[in-house]
Amino acid sequence: MLIAQISDFHLRLPGETAYAGIDTHAMTRRAIDAVASLDPSPDCVLLTGDIADGGRPESYAAARALLSRLPMPVFVIPGNHDKREVMRDCLADACPYLRRDDGFLHYVVEDFPVRLVALDTAVPGAVGGEICAEREMWFAARLAEGDGRPTLVFMHHPPFATGIGAMDGTMCRTAGSFQRLVEEHSEIERVVTGHHHRPIFRRWAGTIGFIAPGVAHQLALDLRPGEPVRYVHEPPAFALHAWSPETGMVSHVVPIGDYGPSRDF
Ligand SMILES: [Fe+2]
Ligand SMILES: [Fe+2]
Repeated sequence: MLIAQISDFHLRLPGETAYAGIDTHAMTRRAIDAVASLDPSPDCVLLTGDIADGGRPESYAAARALLSRLPMPVFVIPGNHDKREVMRDCLADACPYLRRDDGFLHYVVEDFPVRLVALDTAVPGAVGGEICAEREMWFAARLAEGDGRPTLVFMHHPPFATGIGAMDGTMCRTAGSFQRLVEEHSEIERVVTGHHHRPIFRRWAGTIGFIAPGVAHQLALDLRPGEPVRYVHEPPAFALHAWSPETGMVSHVVPIGDYGPSRDF
């Protein structure tokens, strides 16, 4: 099974740039075209939040149009730049699994050899994320329903620190019981997230924590304490998580852009 993970579109309207001239719409289109042209084709795509930079309906309409270029199912979750209700209203036709009545945009996908558990870490008005007691209870119940199949958990904010202080200040707040829950479920192959806009791997709670790069701007690597968040024009990228019974899950980071053809040695 092949799972592509694209993250942090930060979409504005076509032609409207973010920050100092970053054309997030054009860069997202390039990312989506890169995923669409993969051979073999991924079985599904995870979009790990920060879809619309300002949560406007027009940005979600732009996202819907871009995502329609992908022939495979796309599973989306909100990030801190998203507005949960607007996102649900604008995307629910294309993403019916978003139609839930408990408020949060979390769900389980049972259609594949790898079970996909989507968690909603968004907190309205806040940059940081949270798994509150209610969301943790929902997660515990879904894990308890599992049949032991390999499981990939995806969420926007990482629930673990990375050493990039300014971003760690906005990680996902969780209770210790959330970490213990992950530890108790060894079928969880990965906890994959977005939010930090650069590829980061970490052993956490007995599993592998993975943060996907952004498809547009990246955040600068700065491990000095007290430094503010800055962005940098490093190559955008997406992740490809490949699972087979023989290898388990193997995660690749794929730069987006034209780096020339592959050549024989
Ligand atoms: Fe982001
Ligand atoms: Fe974010």
